[in-house]
Amino acid sequence: MEDSKHPDFIKAFYLKRGFSTRALHAGEHFGQPHTPAHVNPIYQTSTFVFSSAEEGAKAFAGQDDAYIYTRLGNPTVKVTEAKLNALEGAGVKLANRDIRVSTLAFSSGMAAITASLLACAKAGDEILLGNVVYGATESLAYNVLNNLGIKAFDVDVANLEAVQKAIGEHPKAKAIFFETPMNPTLALADIAAVAKIVRQVNPNIVVIVDNTFSTPYLQRPLELGADVVVHSATKYLSGHGTVVGGLVTTTLDWVKDELYKLIKNMGSSPGPFDAWLINQGLKTLAIRMEKHCSNAMAVAKYLSTHPKVSHVYYPGLENHPQHELAKKQMKHFGGMLSFELVGGLEAGRKLMNTIEVFTLAVSLGCVDSLIQHPASMTHACVPQDKRLKGGISDGLVRVSVGIEDEQDLIDALDKALAVV
Ligand SMILES: Cc1ncc(COP(=O)(O)O)c(C=O)c1O
Repeated sequence: MEDSKHPDFIKAFYLKRGFSTRALHAGEHFGQPHTPAHVNPIYQTSTFVFSSAEEGAKAFAGQDDAYIYTRLGNPTVKVTEAKLNALEGAGVKLANRDIRVSTLAFSSGMAAITASLLACAKAGDEILLGNVVYGATESLAYNVLNNLGIKAFDVDVANLEAVQKAIGEHPKAKAIFFETPMNPTLALADIAAVAKIVRQVNPNIVVIVDNTFSTPYLQRPLELGADVVVHSATKYLSGHGTVVGGLVTTTLDWVKDELYKLIKNMGSSPGPFDAWLINQGLKTLAIRMEKHCSNAMAVAKYLSTHPKVSHVYYPGLENHPQHELAKKQMKHFGGMLSFELVGGLEAGRKLMNTIEVFTLAVSLGCVDSLIQHPASMTHACVPQDKRLKGGISDGLVRVSVGIEDEQDLIDALDKALAVV
C-alpha cells in the first residue's frame, strides 16, 4: 500500500491536481494527532521544546529536522512555503522531474528581494535591474547594495536588444532582476526570451522575476526559464490588506541555501501569524484573480473611451504595445492598470480626492480597489529624470482594481471624472 505521508506520495498527489486544489490543500496538515484542527494551527511561539539535551544537540547538529527556534523555522511558516511551492513550481517539476523547487518565506517583499540579490551577488559583482521597478527596489539597488560594493545597472527589459547588449557589456553581472508587468507602467518583459539570452550570453547570471503583479495563477516565470521568483505576499497572495510578507521560489539549490543562510543570520523570517494570513489568502487566489482581471478589463475599456482620459496602460487592451506577449505569457491580464488624464497631474489629484468606492492608498492586490499617484507616492524615491525616461509621468494615476461589483467601479469613475 502507498504511504500517504511519504514525501514522494505527497509530491505526486499535488502534481496531479489543479491550481485551486493545490491552493487549498498543499502543505495543509491537521495539527497534532490529539488536537486535529481542520485549519492548520498557528504555532505562535518563538521557541520549541526539546525532549532531552541529546535531542536538542541533534537538532542543532542538523541530524534531524526538529524545530528549534522560529527565526530558523516554524511549522506555520512551512505550510505557506509548501503551498506557494506547489503553485509556483508544480509545472516546472512536471517538465523536468530532476529539478527541485524550493520556497522560502520572508517578513516583507523587500526582505525577499534583498535576500535574492544578496544570494547571487557579492562585493565586486554587478547586477542588472529592470529600468522600471517598484521604488524601494530601485532604492535598494542604488542606495544600499551600492554601498556594499554591488553595482547596479539599469536595463530596458522590454527591449531584447538592450538586454543582449547589457549582458554582453557586464561580464561581472551575477543577476538580472525585473518585474513583468512593471510597476506602475504595465510594460512587459518577455521572460522566456530574456532567460534564453542569458543562457546564450552568460549562463552565470541568475534570472530573477518579481511576479507580484501576476501571481502564479496568471504567470509562472520558472516554467518560462527564470531561476528565481520573488513576491511581495503583501499584495495578491494574501489578498486582504492585512499583512506584509514576502516569498521566494527557486529552482537553484545553491540559491535556496544562500537564502536560508540570510534568513537565519539577518533575521528576515516572517511571524507565524503573518505566514498563516498569507496561507489563508492563497486558498482563494484563483477566484479572486479571475474577478480582479475581469473587473480591470472592464475598467480599462471604460477609461479608454472616456474623453477626459488621454491614455490607459493595461496589457489586456489591444492597443497595448505588448498585448500579444501578454496573451502568450499570462493567463489573463491582471488587476493593475494606470492612466493619464487630459488635465495632467492637477486633474489626477482632483480625481483621487473626489472618487468614491476606490480608496486613496498605496499597496495593491487587495480585495478592494485602491488608487494612488506613483510620482509622488510609490515611486517618489526614483529620480525624476529616470522616472520620466521609464514612462512614469507626473500625471500617471495607478489603480489596483478590486473585486467589487464591476458597475459600481465604473459608476464611481464616471462620477469622479465628471468633476475633474
Ligand atoms: C512589484 C513590487 N515588488 C515588491 C514590493 C515590496 O513589497 P513589500 O511592501 O511587501 O516589502 C512592492 C510593494 O509595493 C511591489 O509593488
